[in-house]
Parts: sequence; C-alpha cells; structure tokens
Amino acid sequence: MDEQSLDAGNHADIAIRLSHPDRISKGAKCNASWESSGPGALKAASAIDVGANGSYPRLPQRGICGGWANVLGLAIAADMNSSPSSSPRNRSDGQVWDLPTRLFHWLLVGLFAFSWWCAKHDQMDWHRLSGITVLGLLLFRLMWGVIGGSTARFAQFVKAPRHVAGYLRNKLPDVPATVGHNPLGAYSVIALLGTLVIQVGSGLFAVDVDGLESGPLSYLLSFDQGRVAAHIHGVSFNLLLALIALHLLAIGYYRLRGRNLLLPMVIGRDRTMPPGSEPLRTAPLLHLVIAVAIAGGVAWWVSRGLPL
Ligand code: HEM
Ligand code: HEM
Repeated sequence: MDEQSLDAGNHADIAIRLSHPDRISKGAKCNASWESSGPGALKAASAIDVGANGSYPRLPQRGICGGWANVLGLAIAADMNSSPSSSPRNRSDGQVWDLPTRLFHWLLVGLFAFSWWCAKHDQMDWHRLSGITVLGLLLFRLMWGVIGGSTARFAQFVKAPRHVAGYLRNKLPDVPATVGHNPLGAYSVIALLGTLVIQVGSGLFAVDVDGLESGPLSYLLSFDQGRVAAHIHGVSFNLLLALIALHLLAIGYYRLRGRNLLLPMVIGRDRTMPPGSEPLRTAPLLHLVIAVAIAGGVAWWVSRGLPL
C-alpha cells in the first residue's frame, strides 16, 4: 500500500482494515493504529469494541467509528468490503435531510400542537385552518416521498420486514449503509404519516355533537356519518399521541446509545455517517415548486368544500 498517497479522510478505515481484513462481528475486538512516515505524516488511531453480549458502547462521534457505526455495526462491515482507494469525494458530505423535509417536520410539529390546543380551547376556526395546513403539509410530504430528495423517498427507506429483523439482530450483511431512516424507523414514519392522514381525513368530514362545528366536507355525509367521522377523529388522535410518545422515546433511546438523531433533523447534517454511506441526492427546485403548488392548491380546494 502506498502510504504517501493516503489522505486524512480515509485513514481510520485503513487502520481497521490493516488489523481486521475480514470483518468485524459481535464479540470481536479491534484496536488499531497506523502512522505514516515522511512529510505530512498522518496519524491514525481507531478503536472499536463490540461487546460479546451484542451491546455497542459509545464511540467517538466523528469518522468511521462515529455514532452510525456504533448503532449499525453493519456500516463498518460494509466499509470493509469497499476498495481501499475510496476517497472522501465519494463519500457523503454529511447531508442527511434536505430543507423541505426538515421544514415539513418542524411545521408539522408546531401545527399538530396548535391544532390540539385550538380543539381543546374551542377555537374551531383556527383548528380548521391549522388542520387544513396540516393537510397541505401531508400532501406535500406524500409527493416529496416520490419526487423529493433521496432520503425522503419512500422507495429508498421502506424496506421489507426481513431488513427490520436483520437490523434488530444487527448482523444482516446486505443492509446497505444508507443515510436517512433506518429500517425500523421507516415503519414508525409510515405509521405516523398514515395516522396523520386518518386524523386529517376524518376531521374533514367530522361534525360535533350539536352540529355547530363541522369539517368542510361534512356536507357530503349524513349527521350520523359525520359523528362517526368525529369518533374516528378522536380515536386517531389518541393513537397519534401514543405514536408520538414512542417516536420521542426512540429518539431518546438512540441518544443514550450515543447517536443524535435530533440535530440532523434541525441542521440537515450528520457528521457521524460512516464512510461509504450512500449520500443524499437532492431533488431539483422544479420538483419542490410542483409539489408545493399541487399540495397548496388541493388543500385550498378541499377547504372550500371541493367547488367545481
Ligand atoms: C393534525 C390535525 C388535527 C388534529 C391534531 C386534530 C385534533 C382534534 C381534537 C383533539 C379534537 C377533539 C376536541 C374535543 O372534542 O375535545 C378535534 C375535533 C374536531 N376537529 Fe380536529 N384535528 C386535526 C385536524 C382537523 C381538520 C383538518 C379538520 C377539518 C378541517 C378538523 C375538524 C375538527 C372538528 C369539526 C372537530 C369537532 C368534532 C367533535 O367535536 O366531535 N380537525 N380535532
Ligand atoms: C419535539 C418533538 C419531536 C422531535 C424532537 C422529533 C424528532 C424527530 C427526528 C429526530 C426525526 C428523524 C428520525 C430519523 O432520523 O429517522 C423525526 C422524524 C419524523 N417525525 Fe418527529 N419529532 C418530534 C415530534 C413529532 C411529531 C409531533 C410528529 C407528528 C405529528 C412527528 C412526525 C415525524 C415524522 C413523520 C418523521 C419522518 C420525517 C420524514 O421522513 O419526513 N414528529 N422526528
């Protein structure tokens, strides 16, 4: 190996490669260091300790031994198989979530809380307005899941159940080191989005008990059917609260395991991504314009009661 040609970006994985040319598995221990000679000498030291019981200790938050590798383990194995000459240019710059996905998320969080508050404080005009805005956000997210940035695309992150089982066992070799939702997280995202669709959809048809408050499409149903929609609205709200609690617990759990999911959802970047991760591919601006225009237009049309 030509040591002088090595660069700082891939010194850590080379260090591991030298020590463990095959792969790192549960129970394995790897301590490696490498030092070049001559001008611009690089110093590399890396330590990976995977407990025999399958638990993963906290690892440094940068480079190959960062949080991603910590949680996935697989990421390291994936990198072991890549060519030694893979350069940092081939690696992600740490961008995980594009701006539209992040805006979607934080607007959704704010509007969900606001809709809840309005419903509980009898501010039904504001409740409907906020709910319709959530409808627009959901329509946007569904389209963005098809034409958006790579990490937002459903086809990229929704995997077959065997991937989830493998992810949980932490040893399925063919799980690629991609950025974005992990196979298990993907199902919780689908559950959250699906329940939100039911929440908003039922609200559109809901009628309150004295018929004074109603959604813009309730005129299409009888009063009794509108009451059923209101009942569904209440049930899905409770389901959403449970899912959100799980969502937050999962994020807290990952934090305890040394992986910060929150910061990437705020700033878009995750500097702990393993080398060899599939980088985020952003969508063209035109896709954003189309998705926002359609989502906004349809939400407005629905709020008016579908006038023709
Ligand atoms: C994130 C979206 C939404 C959330 C979290 C939400 C939440 C709620 C909650 C908690 C209630 C029950 C209030 C209570 O009885 O104490 C409620 C009632 C209601 N919501 Fe929503 N809602 C959402 C979206 C919508 C939408 C899009 C509409 C229609 C445009 C809508 C229309 C209604 C109506 C008409 C009621 C009264 C039903 C009744 O009193 O039985 N909601 N909503
Ligand atoms: C302050 C409370 C919240 C925090 C800190 C938070 C944090 C996060 C984080 C860190 C992710 C990325 C997870 C990953 O890396 O796989 C995420 C994704 C997501 N969260 Fe939350 N969340 C919060 C509240 C909510 C609420 C209230 C909802 C629903 C009403 C929600 C729905 C979602 C959805 C749908 C995604 C997937 C994003 C996408 O792919 O578009 N979150 N959240």
